[in-house]
Amino acid sequence: FRMIITGAPASGKGTQCVNIVKNHGLVHLSTGDMLRKAVKDKTPIGVEAEGYMTRGELVPDEVVCGVIGDRLAEDDCKQKGVLLDGFPRTKVQAEVLDGILKKNGMDIDVVVFLEVNEESLVERVCGRRIDPESGESYHIKFNPPPADIADKLIQRDDDTEEKVKVRLQGFNKNVAAISGFYEAVGLKVDGNKKPEEVEVAVEEAIRSKV
Ligand code: AP5
Ligand code: ZN
Repeated sequence: FRMIITGAPASGKGTQCVNIVKNHGLVHLSTGDMLRKAVKDKTPIGVEAEGYMTRGELVPDEVVCGVIGDRLAEDDCKQKGVLLDGFPRTKVQAEVLDGILKKNGMDIDVVVFLEVNEESLVERVCGRRIDPESGESYHIKFNPPPADIADKLIQRDDDTEEKVKVRLQGFNKNVAAISGFYEAVGLKVDGNKKPEEVEVAVEEAIRSKV
């Protein structure tokens, strides 16, 4: 099946995706991860996206849609199904995605909206630490990393209190359009709880639609 997980910056999308992939074997497609890799590899898309990402702004629709469009048509996505993380984020992106899926006789089965209070989002952003080798993400308070790797962990460029405000604005501007677009398949999940409790609620949401 095909699903979308969406929610504000640092609402726990990536954390829940690890569980969903483990439980359902879907191909995880995070536009944030794909764009960060493009920036690191200095591809034309990366060069175009970098400034927006560093400022915490949304990357233009045509750039993001270019990144994801080709990937969706690959065999593994067709066979295993996909878990879209952080895409679509605007109405235009949702329409483009709809077009790509329809062309391939596919549809979105469920959309999970993670809802988290704004104060918690700032705390989650500021405490996030990432292992640059494995890509695994930790939180200094909520998911402390093992002591032996603590030294090599890094922070994302856009994980500052100032930039999360910009990221939140981008999210808040588009959230109504996205929830409207996916009204029939969308389910809200309380993302304020502990990760393992959120996992149970996400699984319930998936089971109710798939
Ligand atoms: P992206 O990478 O998608 O960033 P984001 O949406 O801001 O979300 P995050 O990855 O920051 O958070 P998350 O929800 O995955 O939370 P996580 O599980 O890591 O996008 C980055 C940028 O790329 C955008 O700003 C934009 O520029 C560009 N971009 C990407 N997609 C785009 C698109 N479609 N259109 C346009 N531009 C696009 O958790 C966060 C922290 O909280 C971690 O430390 C974690 O350990 C902790 N945590 C997780 N769950 C819990 C919990 N339940 N309780 C306590 N702590 C928790
Ligand atoms: Zn993420």
